[in-house]
Amino acid sequence: MAKDKVQIFDTTLRDGEQVPGCKLDTKQKLVIAKRLDELGVDVIEAGFPISSPGDFNSVLEIAKLVKNATVCGLTRAVKKDIEVAAEAIKIAKRPRIHTGIGTSDSHIKYKFNTTREKIIERAVDAVAYAKTFVEDVEFYAEDAGRTDNDFLAQVCEAVIKAGATVLNIPDTTGYCLPEEYGAKMKYLKENVTGIDKAILSCHCHNDLGLATANSIAGVINGARQIECTINGIGERAGNTSLEEVVMILRQHPYLNLDTDVNSTLLLDTSQMVSHKMGMPVQPNKAIVGSNAFAHSSGIHQDGVIKQRETYEIMDPKDVGVSESSIVLTARSGRAALAYRAKNVGYELTKLQLDIVYDNFLKFADRKKEILDDDIHQIIETSDITIESLA
Ligand code: KIV
Ligand code: ZN
Repeated sequence: MAKDKVQIFDTTLRDGEQVPGCKLDTKQKLVIAKRLDELGVDVIEAGFPISSPGDFNSVLEIAKLVKNATVCGLTRAVKKDIEVAAEAIKIAKRPRIHTGIGTSDSHIKYKFNTTREKIIERAVDAVAYAKTFVEDVEFYAEDAGRTDNDFLAQVCEAVIKAGATVLNIPDTTGYCLPEEYGAKMKYLKENVTGIDKAILSCHCHNDLGLATANSIAGVINGARQIECTINGIGERAGNTSLEEVVMILRQHPYLNLDTDVNSTLLLDTSQMVSHKMGMPVQPNKAIVGSNAFAHSSGIHQDGVIKQRETYEIMDPKDVGVSESSIVLTARSGRAALAYRAKNVGYELTKLQLDIVYDNFLKFADRKKEILDDDIHQIIETSDITIESLA
């Protein structure tokens, strides 16, 4: 059965760049945008053009540069925002305006001091106005995660009538559980008249560490776009991580969902974004962390050396990692030591290995990790003659 495509909407340059201390200049943004286009994302949210002249200029330059992806500019449900965004993206091959407003009771009461009826009116006006500039208009219902489903359905229905092509259902505060977020998408699919005219989009924040799980629950329940960032960077605890959702869909083929992302560029893209933003990737980060394919305990190392699949669910090459690594520590066993010794030129017999291993453990108890140079030293100072090495 042919797989359904899930569109990847990358917001590294907008929501991702909202991270304190991660500001990028236009040149850096262009390099990242070019790479995102090569990676195969469907939409690049290039910025929030009204926010500053610098951001306007970045969006404009990205709109000129990008060859394949849709280029999107964010706005509030405010006429001036929409006009400025339209100006910034008008040269793009595929321009999109992303406009919206808060829909939860808390946003309606405290942010806007208004009523539900007035929010629907403003949402419809914003979409209709954006439609006068571009065909492709995405509407976001900010704090949809905490918006009551019945009201959310009314908002969605109204903005579809006004011409919205994509409905973004953000879990702005990262509050939802996967079941709840999935059920929200299902509810909208089943209760919004005209829903087939628009694509439902997941936009999840990671305040409780559930952004990726929620996005996957969203697409299982009918959404067909995921908004995400490289390395999961973004406001507070971040956004859904692009590399995670792409590989989850790829590693679970029975879901019958896939993206157009060239996964072999994931590691390189992650490192590029990390470097440009000065934002290190945690070593245990799924897919792109430095330990994601590193094995250090003896039991795991023995398994991986015999057959990689025993402890790996993905081929590292599929995400751009050249090979899994066998890290030598005091928890490593003989199999790992023999493997690493062989890689640096020593084919040890069983007897030699026993002797070298005792020496190795003494070293390893003093040092966190044994490197190639240490292996030479350990073997040379072990009670075996180098000449007698097999
Ligand atoms: O998290 C959010 O609600 C957003 C919207 C502006 C799309 O980033
Ligand atoms: Zn967001």
